[in-house]
Amino acid sequence: MAYVCRECGYRSLKWFGRCPSCGSWGTLEEVTEAEPRSARKRAEPMSWLGEEPRPLPQVPSSPLKRLSTGFPEVDRLLGGGLIPGAVILFGGEPGVGKSTLLLQIAAALARHHGSVLYVSGEESAPQVKLRAERLGIEEGRLYLFAEQSLPRIVAAVEEISPLALVVDSLQTVLARANGGEVGGIQQVREAAAEIARLSKLRGTASFLVSHITKGGGFAGPKTVEHIVDVAIYLEGVREADLRILRSVKNRFGSTNEVAVFKMSDCGMEEVANPSLFFLSRDRGAKPGSAIVPVLEGTRTMLVEVQALVSPTKYGPPQRRTPGLDYNRVLVLLAVLERYLGVHIGMSDVYLTVAGGFEVREPALDLGIAAAVLSSLYNQPISPDTVVLGEIGLSGEIRPVRKAQERLKEVEKLGFRRAILPDQDIKGKVCLELVRAKTVSEACEALNLGG
Ligand SMILES: Nc1ncnc2c1ncn2[C@@H]1O[C@H](COP(=O)(O)OP(=O)(O)OP(=O)(O)O)[C@@H](O)[C@H]1O
Ligand SMILES: [Mg+2]
Ligand SMILES: [Zn+2]
Repeated sequence: MAYVCRECGYRSLKWFGRCPSCGSWGTLEEVTEAEPRSARKRAEPMSWLGEEPRPLPQVPSSPLKRLSTGFPEVDRLLGGGLIPGAVILFGGEPGVGKSTLLLQIAAALARHHGSVLYVSGEESAPQVKLRAERLGIEEGRLYLFAEQSLPRIVAAVEEISPLALVVDSLQTVLARANGGEVGGIQQVREAAAEIARLSKLRGTASFLVSHITKGGGFAGPKTVEHIVDVAIYLEGVREADLRILRSVKNRFGSTNEVAVFKMSDCGMEEVANPSLFFLSRDRGAKPGSAIVPVLEGTRTMLVEVQALVSPTKYGPPQRRTPGLDYNRVLVLLAVLERYLGVHIGMSDVYLTVAGGFEVREPALDLGIAAAVLSSLYNQPISPDTVVLGEIGLSGEIRPVRKAQERLKEVEKLGFRRAILPDQDIKGKVCLELVRAKTVSEACEALNLGG
């Protein structure tokens, strides 16, 4: 007997009203481990083909043939394509477009590689068909199956022997009759574990859709992340038709990779070159804006930090930082006050990233500082200039990772000048590089001052 948090998967032998791990209230749920008898019954056919331990050299190496999902950006996110037998958790908030993107991926896999089984526990087959028609999908090797019972899903996989399986969604799968409520932790975990075993056994790649629900009785994707090979999340951004797919776990590739999509009535379309996507369209010299090359996984993207500093009219000074790390911003404001002698203690400070992107990256520090100062002094930063650098507590600017790669991208996009930490740049870059050791040196280089 144990208790598991349905938000974050925290496990404890004691019950708490408030989860000690994620702080949610009333989310700890009692789970009983499956009874030994039924466990033994289930363990038999699900074993790993009765394999024996053997020395490493005698294990045949599997030639990793990776299949294209029809979306080059998704392939890159997966580490170079879909691997047979991979189990992929596909999370996202309700309505963000999970079913749409997965139906498109399923269709591409069916068209180019073999049969695909799309199990829907939330929508009827005609409903899914309707979406398929809207997306112009008519693959003969794509099977639709509206079902919630795990044994029936397993039977269908055994019959059709698809190369890929989509389960939409995990929270609607009923693993066993006495395993608690549908969508509860126990059902969701058992379903995920069994599908994972089935996938490994048969080499079927599985996509498990999981809804992120704030509150409610559903077990969220975090509760099964440890079971899967790859965990990716589809996120909406404030610019309504954009979607970001992000990998947070990948046993076959690097993580924190992102792919950017545009959602239209014909489905999801890849944005092939997202590095400029988050800059505002009318990019010109305006106060309060600074451009920073940030790293998302292995990819450089240029983002625009926007700041508005204005004297507080009433009440305590406001600080709002959607898309940015709030506590980090407070530290940076304190550093500016202390080492540049600026007075922002009696001002409201609003900071954001254009396009509604969320960024957490040390190299962004200097961009945040520059945007704040630019707004404070009402002096624009030249639009051909980017800034990057981590700021230390004594106002020093610290080196950033992969500066070289970032500058290459900056150069490609037609910028002329970069303000950066005092660090070595290997190779040739056709940019004017201005190295700054401290925030005040960076200000000087940017012509910002009172
Ligand atoms: N007929 C339509 N034309 C254009 N866009 C549509 C149409 N039907 C649905 N959409 C868009 O698709 C989105 C829903 O996509 P989808 O069903 O793939 O999301 P989901 O993440 O699977 O949602 P759910 O949580 O309900 O399963 C909606 O936000 C809507 O904007
Ligand atoms: Mg859906
Ligand atoms: Zn929790």
